[in-house]
Amino acid sequence: MSIITKLAIAASLATALSSGAMAQDLTGKVVGFSQIGSESGWRAAETSVTRQQAEERGVDLKFADAQQKQENQIKAIRGFIAQGVDAILVAPVVATGWEDVLTEAKEAEIPVVLLDRGVDAPEDLYLASVASDQVVEGRVAGQWLVDTVAGADCKVVELQGTVGSTPAINRKQGFEEAIAGASNITIARSQTGDFTRSKGKEVMEGFIKAENGGADICAVYAHNDDMAVGAIQAIKDAGLKPGTDILVVSIDAVPDIFTAIAAGEANATVELTPNMAGPAFDVLAAYLADGTEPEKFIITESKLYTSADDPQGEYDRRKDLGY
Ligand code: AHR
Repeated sequence: MSIITKLAIAASLATALSSGAMAQDLTGKVVGFSQIGSESGWRAAETSVTRQQAEERGVDLKFADAQQKQENQIKAIRGFIAQGVDAILVAPVVATGWEDVLTEAKEAEIPVVLLDRGVDAPEDLYLASVASDQVVEGRVAGQWLVDTVAGADCKVVELQGTVGSTPAINRKQGFEEAIAGASNITIARSQTGDFTRSKGKEVMEGFIKAENGGADICAVYAHNDDMAVGAIQAIKDAGLKPGTDILVVSIDAVPDIFTAIAAGEANATVELTPNMAGPAFDVLAAYLADGTEPEKFIITESKLYTSADDPQGEYDRRKDLGY
């Protein structure tokens, strides 16, 4: 990447992320970040934003890419503890299996902040969690479908996220809650696409084969935009029109889904901000300064976008943010 591109990205990040409040200074603090991997455009943006936020605040960020494996995350966290970092950020790939390592961090008096996903562990083992309300995200997507089909029969196929991850569990639950009162809408098939474009395409191809060449499918609900983009390709390959023959609704609001919405090939997305690190660093700055206990759960917004929301403009606003 050229220096000019880097500067342009840094400038747009600074503009896009400034919320009016001054970033809290954490000069000289060492923070370990255990990231899941790079399964989606959204995840890549979260990594870029975290690096940018760290740089702005003078944080020495130690980054560890777990390549989708919980064992790698646990190893990285143990490494951070051994190094005596000031704090740890972790985006937990799955919900279970964290109690031991979080206890070790707590015993070492190293505060941990969870980013974008939750864990099934006692709340006193982490300082705070910065994430969306993923049940709400599923509900917003489901309600959009209920309103859009307006009583017509609609067979849905669902592309789930990573098995055992809180967004997969909660986005499924929220969507089911939203359609519960609409007997015209049924989920015909549901399978994991592991939050990736390639798996989303592959699983959608199977759904199309199993559902009369896709003729019986009214809508695809994907737990993230990357799987939706993969599904759009599968729909096109089957000779059908995504966005018209098969409605497409998903979550994240990455630039590529706005391109698809602008082209009429996707219909709706629910925004998940990639800026989880900003609030996390604010919480850590206050805690490390004087022990201020933050709110345990910091919930980010879940806004719906459709073709009525200037998709080209939304694409332009996001395209340089590291997705
Ligand atoms: O945990 C957030 C989810 O993880 C995003 O929606 C998805 O794109 C990512 O991989």
